[in-house]
Amino acid sequence: MAQGLRLVLFGPPGAGKGTQAQLLRDRLKVTHISSGDLFRYHLGQGTALGLRAKEYMNKGELVPDEVTIDIILDKVLSVPNEEGFILDGFPRNPHQAEELEKALSGAVRGLDKVVHIEVPEPVLLRRLGGRFVCRDCQAPHSIGEGEDASKVCSQCGGELYQRDDDQPKAVKKRIQVYNDETTPVLGFYRDRDVVVDISGDQTVDDVNQQVLAALDA
Ligand code: AP5
Ligand code: MG
Repeated sequence: MAQGLRLVLFGPPGAGKGTQAQLLRDRLKVTHISSGDLFRYHLGQGTALGLRAKEYMNKGELVPDEVTIDIILDKVLSVPNEEGFILDGFPRNPHQAEELEKALSGAVRGLDKVVHIEVPEPVLLRRLGGRFVCRDCQAPHSIGEGEDASKVCSQCGGELYQRDDDQPKAVKKRIQVYNDETTPVLGFYRDRDVVVDISGDQTVDDVNQQVLAALDA
């Protein structure tokens, strides 16, 4: 039986993880698991989990592991082996990476690749300042200064909004948290020889072509 891809998309806030995950999901028919999208969904529904996560997200901090790990691993382990998954935004610290490895060691197999999308900080700041997200399907969109921000989602027609954590103060904190708490995860995966580094400072299509080439897809 064919086995589905098991991929982690890794990179700083605004690197294009969500953008590339959606393209890969549509092309490779794998499940997209985004921890941030999941928290925002719960926030929109007003659940206890959403309210708990909001306290941390709006400040640009990581949601505590005891809230995050079980819910994401449940999703990962529920994906059938032949289907495959793309993780976007998880793991985000070494403890999360260890727990994912443990969970997958009891499964049929581990991760195929970790795609590290690198983008210089000034580009990240510019992108996050112009990002609008769909309230329904969470697809990210770029809207430049002076463009009409009342546009609707190109994928589902839903309403576009700006994330609270895309305010400059929270963005600065998110980048700091990425540098301090998340980048050590790269070392964890380099030791396992699964990391592919790709420049994300190119067009969306060029990044996508390079990711597909790295996956041999
Ligand atoms: P999360 O939602 O994961 O946010 P993030 O990692 O900060 O990443 P972003 O979603 O901001 O960026 P992206 O890389 O997806 O870029 P996108 O494709 O949108 O997490 C949010 C919060 O949730 C965290 O701060 C934390 O509080 C909590 N959280 C989540 N996971 C957690 C975990 N595991 N543990 C603990 N807490 C957790 O692109 C950005 C913009 O650029 C868009 O406008 C897009 O259109 C544009 N763009 C994309 N690619 C290109 C390109 N190649 N060229 C030009 N523009 C581009
Ligand atoms: Mg995202």
